[in-house]
Amino acid sequence: MQASILETRRWHWPDEPACAESARALAGRCGIDDAFIELHGPLGAGKTTFVRHLLAALGVEGRVKSPTYTLLESYRADAAHGGFAIGHFDFYRFEDPQEWEDAGFREVFAGPGLKLVEWPDKAATLLPPCDLRIAIAPRDDGDARAVRVEALSARGALLLPTERPA
Ligand SMILES: Nc1ncnc2c1ncn2[C@@H]1O[C@H](COP(=O)(O)OP(=O)(O)OP(=O)(O)O)[C@@H](O)[C@H]1O
Ligand SMILES: [Mg+2]
Repeated sequence: MQASILETRRWHWPDEPACAESARALAGRCGIDDAFIELHGPLGAGKTTFVRHLLAALGVEGRVKSPTYTLLESYRADAAHGGFAIGHFDFYRFEDPQEWEDAGFREVFAGPGLKLVEWPDKAATLLPPCDLRIAIAPRDDGDARAVRVEALSARGALLLPTERPA
């Protein structure tokens, strides 16, 4: 059954620094330590880039590799941000549901920690319901992105940064 959307926000990123700003705002929200966030958008939309800025804001040091081939890269927030586990998935090349079991993804999703998933549609039948769905749409050929953010759980709604007055 499709979870219902509790709240929708629209962000506009004119450039990558705006993407980084949204990532920093999300990193500071209560409940990020145990959230499941889906990242939608075409190749090159900025899903991994958003994750890189989010992880940097959570104190993760070093290179954040795209998990295109490994399917999962694991990290930990630094002590100042709570030291929680972070799983960054990319299901673009995911084909075999058996791999889900073999790789231990069931345990990762059942356990605590932040889960960030690129190309969730490719593993849709296996994934539990997410808290937040972020859809990134490139505009024209430049750096601008139109972003739709949907909260699908109470935790997801809490994760939405408070609206700034226009
Ligand atoms: N406003 C923006 N927000 C995010 N990334 C941007 C923006 N403007 C330009 N970029 C650039 O666009 C590229 C996005 O690539 P990225 O790997 O993040 O895409 P992706 O959505 O993860 O693609 P894939 O589906 O292949 O994994 C990066 O080179 C990034 O620097
Ligand atoms: Mg990516």
